Amino acid sequence: MNSPGRNVYRSAQRTIVRLWWITALALALAALCAAQTPQFERGRNGMVVTSEKHASAAGLAVLKSGGNAVDAAVAAAFALAVTHPAAGNIGGGGFLLVRLAGGETNFIDFREQAPLAATEDMYLGPDGKPTQDSVIGWRAAGVPGTVRGLELAHRRYGKLAWKDVAAPAVKLARDGFALSAAQARSLNGSRLLAQFPESRRIFQRNGTAWSEGDVLKQPELAQVLERIAAAGAQDFYEGETARRLADAMRAHGGLITLEDLRRYRAVERAPLSGGYKGYTILSAPPPSSGGAGLLQVLGVLAGTGYEKSGPGSAPTIHYVAEALRRFFAERGEFLGDPDFERLPVAGLLDPRHLDRLRRSIDPERATPSRSLRAGAPLFEAPETTHLTAVDRAGNAAALTYTLNGSFGSGVTVPGLGFLLNNEMDDFSVQPGFPNSAGLVQGRVNAIRAGKRPLSSMTPTIVLKDGQFFLALGSPGSGRIISSVLQVLLNVIDHRMPLAEAVAYPRFHHQWLPDRLYVEPGFRIETLRKLEAMGHAVEQTRGIGEVQAVWLNGGWLEGVADPRGEGAAGGY
Ligand code: GLY
Repeated sequence: MNSPGRNVYRSAQRTIVRLWWITALALALAALCAAQTPQFERGRNGMVVTSEKHASAAGLAVLKSGGNAVDAAVAAAFALAVTHPAAGNIGGGGFLLVRLAGGETNFIDFREQAPLAATEDMYLGPDGKPTQDSVIGWRAAGVPGTVRGLELAHRRYGKLAWKDVAAPAVKLARDGFALSAAQARSLNGSRLLAQFPESRRIFQRNGTAWSEGDVLKQPELAQVLERIAAAGAQDFYEGETARRLADAMRAHGGLITLEDLRRYRAVERAPLSGGYKGYTILSAPPPSSGGAGLLQVLGVLAGTGYEKSGPGSAPTIHYVAEALRRFFAERGEFLGDPDFERLPVAGLLDPRHLDRLRRSIDPERATPSRSLRAGAPLFEAPETTHLTAVDRAGNAAALTYTLNGSFGSGVTVPGLGFLLNNEMDDFSVQPGFPNSAGLVQGRVNAIRAGKRPLSSMTPTIVLKDGQFFLALGSPGSGRIISSVLQVLLNVIDHRMPLAEAVAYPRFHHQWLPDRLYVEPGFRIETLRKLEAMGHAVEQTRGIGEVQAVWLNGGWLEGVADPRGEGAAGGY
């Protein structure tokens, strides 16, 4: 028989066991959360979101020590050059969109440039067909722009000393950082890196596979970054780094000379700007196609009520995909480097043109791509990275930069420890004819000495009532435009909170190939309906990787895309 005393004892024992389990579970969850990078963060004072947690921490530290959004963006970009070698870089280029709280806007173009020795047919073999030289190896590299771009941004807007914004990257390169499982896999698995001895030595330990938690130290890169921290971009373009890079180029049959480096300048351009449902959208002008694409598609969608059937529904996806299809058909024919070509950007965004595009969309049927006037489809590799920084004053910086392909050309410059881009492949390697990937390119983007190749990078800042509202961007070549667009549509038209808008499944259409790419997550009935409307639906891996910050009820909220390993750092 159970005595009352024994029952009390048993019930106390059960409670203790229950409490023990709850505590153990809570501790396990806390440990799990601490081990994971925060993909969502709130703060009132500042926010940095990048695709890699050490780089976000570098940007956050700079904000906390009194730096502004541009200081944080520059620090995070230098850090990514160490911790995200697939795309972060000092051997590549990109774009930075700045919007100061007082209203000033600027777009810093530090896109790579064709070397002086470059010619239109330099990548055609004796049979007249494109070779692999624009994709792999020393001849694939354009003149890097990143260091000049970051220096110009800092000189214009930075508050902290240059050496202090470069310092976190120097430390990460010198002392090393622990690789994540995904980073270890990506380095181990790169057949491109394995082809070049210096890349294989540094990034693949000469064939000894990395594991999660192994520390990657980059002493040669640390020395280059130390020189840049001390002497500025002068070292990279005219000093010791420039000389060693030019010597290595000469020794390996590359094209970039000291003269190319000495002449390279980052360029300030006016951002493209347009309105959508009361919001002001600031985005990338040529040589990126990103801003023109974003504004054209928004302009086509405006006033159609396309969103009424809801996010992820067949009519909504159909309408947005048709608008994207039409933009990509025009993209390669009309867009390139504005310093070399006359570009009809105003025409692409003219209300009459938007109206004509809008009226050409059949709400029930997909338009076969071949029936649209020939432009040039996309031929860009998808490895790029985006970061966003916003400070307490409301200054915002959206920076997208790239090596083009994953690990760029595969070449690490001996003794300098950084990878070179393969951005020459973003030119039309063979205008007017199918290239090695079976794609047709436009003349407007043909190779010429000193020219910048067409891009899709779309760093974007959105204002509401003239104040900062949202900043975002993504990697993913042409998919960048679709990714940025759909996050904007999810926030503005479908009223989603930012984290949901970023995580929501995405789709992409780029005219050719005539396919509607969809991520997992859409309902099977929706996909069947889209097929019945004439779309060739194809499942694909993650579309883009958006890093975004918005102002929500007085809080800065940072969201790193759950498709990647990014992190938000705020306070
Ligand atoms: N290399 C990718 C882009 O510029 O769009």
